[in-house]
Amino acid sequence: MLPVTDESLKKGADIIRNGGLVAFPTETVYGLGADAFNPQALARIFEVKNRPYFDPLIIHIASVNALEEVADFSLINEETRKKLLLLADNLWPGPLSIVLPKNKKIPGIATAGLQTAAIRFPSNETAQKLISLSGTAIAAPSANPFGSLSPTRAEHVRSGLGDKIDLILDGGVSQIGLESTVLDLTGEKIKILRPGGTQREAIENLIGCIETESGGQGAQKDHAFSSPGQMKSHYSPKTPLTVFSREEMINQPTEAICAGIERLALLFFDNATRDEWQKTEKHLKIAIIKVLSKTGDPAEAASNLFETLHEIDNSNISHIIAQLAPQHGLGEAINDRLIRASNI
Ligand code: TXA
Ligand code: MG
Repeated sequence: MLPVTDESLKKGADIIRNGGLVAFPTETVYGLGADAFNPQALARIFEVKNRPYFDPLIIHIASVNALEEVADFSLINEETRKKLLLLADNLWPGPLSIVLPKNKKIPGIATAGLQTAAIRFPSNETAQKLISLSGTAIAAPSANPFGSLSPTRAEHVRSGLGDKIDLILDGGVSQIGLESTVLDLTGEKIKILRPGGTQREAIENLIGCIETESGGQGAQKDHAFSSPGQMKSHYSPKTPLTVFSREEMINQPTEAICAGIERLALLFFDNATRDEWQKTEKHLKIAIIKVLSKTGDPAEAASNLFETLHEIDNSNISHIIAQLAPQHGLGEAINDRLIRASNI
């Protein structure tokens, strides 16, 4: 693990060019990168993450021009091309992955055999430099063992994947703290396959109404999904988790629900709800109380979500009760992750 310097970036780029694996910071979460055109290097990503081969990777580029290297424009019609350029002009670089017909040069293992690829131009400067210096596109899933919480710090990567990879570039805490939004431009209808760091409203302002993959939230599908990030077991902390609405959080008699639970953690969305909850007398000892955002700011809550779940996971807690966010803006992505993490 090395801090980000010109030297460590150069080392990282050498490793990528030679078919190795480098974990690097992005504005969403840390990625585990390999040369997107090297099938052996890509196979290693699946191996070290213990990731099923049917789960496709996101391809990262460092300029809009590089899109032509990874997507096949001959398969994109005029109308879609216009929408793509609008999105790229306004929302890239940033936390948006766009699913497009893939360029034939991208090996099938990168896209799990799909003829499409999810492509992202990240805004994190280290990520951009690493991609540029490598002189290639970098395929990178989140740098965590399959199914577990995404890493928002280099330290999370080290404890999850440790010595299985060639280098971890430590670029501090991920600014957004939640994965990118995955938007599919290849179907008849434009769809969000995974809510994430780019808000639905920002996309709809540019290209009009879009859909969310039906049953996306919390749906349990084993095979027939178009974005396997929809598997319910994804993004899970090790500790069992139950989600509550704001009203349930305040009104439910915690004692009755938590009978038998030894060390309970309560995860509030905002201080206001916590304060309401505290007004009634509780007989149960709560081991940890956390708040995602004092003022209920969704961006702050998103950036603290995985961070806080990692912390709770390391605190010997037997159960987490987490409050859902208001279901709009980034709240959509926060709730998506909480519901997937819950074991209802
Ligand atoms: O923010 C992020 O997206 C991070 C950083 C590292 O960029 N990456 C990330 O990758 O979260 P990963 O592999 O954990 O999640 C990728 C998601 C999965 O849900 C996958 O199914 C979906 O993107 N995906 C990738 N390629 C796809 C494709 N061709 N069609 C549909 N979904 C795709
Ligand atoms: Mg992931």
